[in-house]
Amino acid sequence: MKPVSVHGSRFFNDDCITGAQTYLEDNSVDLIITDPPYGIRGDTLHRHYNRNEQYVIPGYVEIPKNEYAKFSKRWISEAERVLRPGGSIYIISGYTNLYDILHALYQTSLLEVNHIIWKYSFGVFTKRKYVSSHYHILFYEKPGGRRTFNAESRFGLAEKTANGRSPNTSDREDVWLINREYKPKKKKNKNELPPALLIKMLQYSSNEGDLVCDFFLGGFSTAKAAIGLNRRMVGFELSKDLFDAKVRELKPLRPGYLLDSLPAPVVSTIKNQGRAWTPQERLALASRYAVLKGQKLLKKAITAILCEEFGRGRFAIEKALQKV
Ligand SMILES: C[S@@+](CC[C@H](N)C(=O)[O-])C[C@H]1O[C@@H](n2cnc3c(N)ncnc32)[C@H](O)[C@@H]1O
Repeated sequence: MKPVSVHGSRFFNDDCITGAQTYLEDNSVDLIITDPPYGIRGDTLHRHYNRNEQYVIPGYVEIPKNEYAKFSKRWISEAERVLRPGGSIYIISGYTNLYDILHALYQTSLLEVNHIIWKYSFGVFTKRKYVSSHYHILFYEKPGGRRTFNAESRFGLAEKTANGRSPNTSDREDVWLINREYKPKKKKNKNELPPALLIKMLQYSSNEGDLVCDFFLGGFSTAKAAIGLNRRMVGFELSKDLFDAKVRELKPLRPGYLLDSLPAPVVSTIKNQGRAWTPQERLALASRYAVLKGQKLLKKAITAILCEEFGRGRFAIEKALQKV
């Protein structure tokens, strides 16, 4: 089968397992972001949502519950093969079949980085129990290489809000509050992920030019965000209706179209941040500290001078001085 090529990215109207086996080389993908079918009978999925189904594109392919474990094992083992060492994978899953996905992951070499909870609004309608309003995001890495994690891609480490909090730390907590998009009277896929969620994963775990893969394209939301951030994309969608409707929407998009709209982080200029101290540096710190202390300077002033001279943050200097 020939892929549809758009802006240097490739899309296959094909099964992701046989498709990956045929078209994707070992260790070739930098990042996988994917949202597999839920195995809860797609044809009854609408009963869980309070929305008008006439705007939902038909053709969503579901996996029967009794095949879910085997299916998860097969596609996750392909994902493991195609990821480069150090590559990351984010799998978005509801609770119902989470066990099968975790079980499949445990049978690979992939290692857990974080188990993220995505809390959204418009929870699933219930009357006699709590309203379900979260998904699980399983963030794993393939061992053997350096994983991309752009810790300051959204907020600088030293940035502070008006009330003194660190937006960097809040953004990197493992509970994400991101609302689903409300798209009244617009055509959509059954479970379209919000762009903000995808942009966040792409910013932290990939760089411009990287190859990103989605095994289950659905409404092509991962593809749209990846093209918008100037990443290359490859992906699969089995439904012809969905594939044809959505692949058309990619053509008018300009690669990198999202980049200008993203807030620019104020990136830390502490040049040795995160680098281990050498024994020589520790000796130099001790001797410089003794000199400054002899000048009867205040502790705060001494720390500021040492931060500047050693290219370290305040906490790093204070911690290192405790060992002097
Ligand atoms: C949960 S949806 C993906 C939603 C997508 N992330 C979005 O934001 O629109 C899962 C998709 O996988 C597709 N699918 C199911 N089995 C597949 C398979 N074996 N290979 C490729 N796609 C498949 C379904 O048709 C459905 O569109």
